[in-house]
Amino acid sequence: MKILLTGGAGYIGSHTAIALIEAGHDVSVLDNYSNSSPEAIKRVEKITGKNIALHEADAADKDKVMSILKKEMPDCIIHFAGLKAVGESVDKPVEYYRNNIDTTLTLLECMRELGLKNFVFSSSATVYGDDHKPPFTEEMTKGMCTNPYGWTKWMQEQMLADAAIASSKFASQSRGAKGSEDEATDWKEPLSVVLLRYFNPVGAHESGLIGEDPQGIPNNLMPFISQVAVGRRDHLTVFGDDYDTPDGTCRRDYIHVMDLAEGHVKAAEYAAEHTGTEVFNLGSGTPYSVLEMVHAFSAACGSEVAYEIGPRRAGDIQDSWANADKALKVLGWKTRRGIDEICRDAWNWQSQNPQGYGE
Ligand code: NAD
Ligand code: UFG
Repeated sequence: MKILLTGGAGYIGSHTAIALIEAGHDVSVLDNYSNSSPEAIKRVEKITGKNIALHEADAADKDKVMSILKKEMPDCIIHFAGLKAVGESVDKPVEYYRNNIDTTLTLLECMRELGLKNFVFSSSATVYGDDHKPPFTEEMTKGMCTNPYGWTKWMQEQMLADAAIASSKFASQSRGAKGSEDEATDWKEPLSVVLLRYFNPVGAHESGLIGEDPQGIPNNLMPFISQVAVGRRDHLTVFGDDYDTPDGTCRRDYIHVMDLAEGHVKAAEYAAEHTGTEVFNLGSGTPYSVLEMVHAFSAACGSEVAYEIGPRRAGDIQDSWANADKALKVLGWKTRRGIDEICRDAWNWQSQNPQGYGE
């Protein structure tokens, strides 16, 4: 299939490009590099030996997106483009709602006009909010999000599911009929939407050529640990050790980014065979605490990662992990890499690229 990745130069998109190419698909990328570098795609080309059409554009710019989609006419769009920093979203809600919502609406309008059908969306376990106890299953009601970033995912899921319903209704009505007066608002194809709820993506491609390269001070645990290990930061602050867990620190479902990437291959192939909306958790189902991650990383890099215990971080939930049975049953997908591979590959990337792509 021809698959277009919005935000494909970013962390998850670049790893997914490799998995898609290895599965025999053709990949193109649309990115505005607001949080990435074209260097990531050059490295993907080096790893795979394949050329990738690279389009610099804002995914909310309808004219540009239309002309790129007309050129590519992809069988599937995987929509990674978005702003993703939870803390920043609290300070810049307007930018987060504008960017994340607009990109999805623009893509939907363009798909409708061009009759494109298949869409895979990067959602997040954050949509479960803190209303439920893990393991989270897809049929649980979406919860109350604790930040604007989470709400953008929640809303985008809703918009996509609503569009899929409308597209199936109008596409079947207008089939064989003359359609409505406004061609632009007629759905030509019933949409197929796959919503992927990621748990905590971590690690890097095993080559060490691509990996996570956050700008400024990392918000997330694993890149922070990696930067302490490589000497860019003095120590990690563990946000709270007074939770009701065995060692007092929060537990998460860390998923190797290449396992996540392979989940996208299955999701895109599934989308091509179906219509309507389907939701899948992509996680391992196994939680690890913050301190367990610190110790596993210390073992992988061969030196103790310095840390101190600090106060809890506002908005953190104690526990989050997936029930990923549906992805196994329907997509035939499950994680294959464990915590040791995660830490090995994260360290391999960080130690080979201490300053990320910026060197
Ligand atoms: P990332 O920031 O590395 O990648 C996002 C990419 O989108 C970047 O290359 C950025 O330049 C691009 N982008 C942003 N806005 C754009 C726009 N308007 N037009 C074109 N390109 C734009 O992030 P990531 O970790 O690879 O995340 C990918 C997706 O997965 C995001 O939607 C994110 O919210 C979601 N997600 C990530 C995590 C995580 O922990 N990394 C967890 C759950 C969901
Ligand atoms: N943590 C620390 N110190 C740090 C960074 C994190 O102790 O410097 C702890 C956090 O308190 C949390 C755990 O490490 O207990 C994981 O934190 P991350 O920031 O790496 O990940 P979150 O689970 O908070 O957030 C992730 C994604 C979000 C997504 C959310 C819910 O980054 O995009 O999962 O799915 F919204």
